[in-house]
Amino acid sequence: MATYKIAVLPGDGIGQEVTPEAVRVLKAVGAGAGVGFEFEEALVGGAAIDATGGPLAPGTLELCRRSHAILFGAVGGPKWDDVAHERRPERGLLALRKELDLYANLRPAKCFPMLVDASPLKRSVVEGTDLMVIRELTGGLYFGEPRGVERFADGGARAVNTMAYTSREIERIARIGFEVARKRRKRLTSVDKANVLVVSQLWREVVTRVARDYPDVTLEHVLVDNCAMALVHRPTQFDTMVTENTFGDILSDEAAILAGSMGMLPSASLGGAVGLYEPVHGTAPDIAGKGIANPIAAILSAAMLLRYSLNMEKDADRVERAVLRVLEQGHRTADIAPRGTRAAGTTEMGDLIVRDVEAQY
Ligand code: IPM
Ligand code: MG
Repeated sequence: MATYKIAVLPGDGIGQEVTPEAVRVLKAVGAGAGVGFEFEEALVGGAAIDATGGPLAPGTLELCRRSHAILFGAVGGPKWDDVAHERRPERGLLALRKELDLYANLRPAKCFPMLVDASPLKRSVVEGTDLMVIRELTGGLYFGEPRGVERFADGGARAVNTMAYTSREIERIARIGFEVARKRRKRLTSVDKANVLVVSQLWREVVTRVARDYPDVTLEHVLVDNCAMALVHRPTQFDTMVTENTFGDILSDEAAILAGSMGMLPSASLGGAVGLYEPVHGTAPDIAGKGIANPIAAILSAAMLLRYSLNMEKDADRVERAVLRVLEQGHRTADIAPRGTRAAGTTEMGDLIVRDVEAQY
């Protein structure tokens, strides 16, 4: 029997509530498909700061390196707002991305037909939305040097972050963009700010050059400000998008609204030897600990884990089908339930999906 080791890093806030539901779903898949999963938990984020003093507990990175895939929850929260910048909970996640060379972040945003009315945007706008945001994850403003704050004697200060990309970094994420677009509707939108930033000019130059290797994919370049507007104006015009780290961070949150709720969006971070799978939503401190968080983003992230790290395509389909079916039956967590209707809690939603997955084997 094939056995896979999965590093489980729930992190903070609702990460601790939704990740166990994704683990339960994987267990159901394992039992059904005759595959062994060995889960090992480790600390990251605020939970790691509390226990060990730093946002990436000793051993966490090492566990990730010897696993087949990583199931991640979320990190951060008001409790650690005053922690020094370099030790903030978020640094744990950023260090994992960098150390594991997870340069390609895939964030699908799909508007499920039965959730059209959960989006605050009009039905006529969001209906039919099905896009994939590919965000570069290990470069740009997040990691560029120099960075830091200078404090002056007169009480003033100057802070610097640097947006930097090499042509090699742009080329490898562009190739992922074209490969993914090729398996979808063969339309790739490259998002930049080439009318202002030299980094974006290089980005556009390299993406255009890589496009020659993908004559079957239609490439368009869109400026990021225009893209932000078009996303809420006519999202169905987009299929696959590729963009740098910060633009991707912002646009993928915006895209979440098209899908009804952040609680629905999974992600995969790929590139290095082991992939990391994480719901796009954060720790949601306002609802943490209440048992009402939507576990679907975490469960769909587990489906991406099956597809991209373990090549278990059919099983990934089963998990996605289970989610669709449970939604079709009318079950909703609070974030997607129409006002005044009864909402399922986190474990209740998990139960429903696990049962549907079990029934498919
Ligand atoms: C995300 C998050 C992270 C990011 C934070 C938690 C560091 O917003 O994954 O989008 O900015 O990349
Ligand atoms: Mg973000």
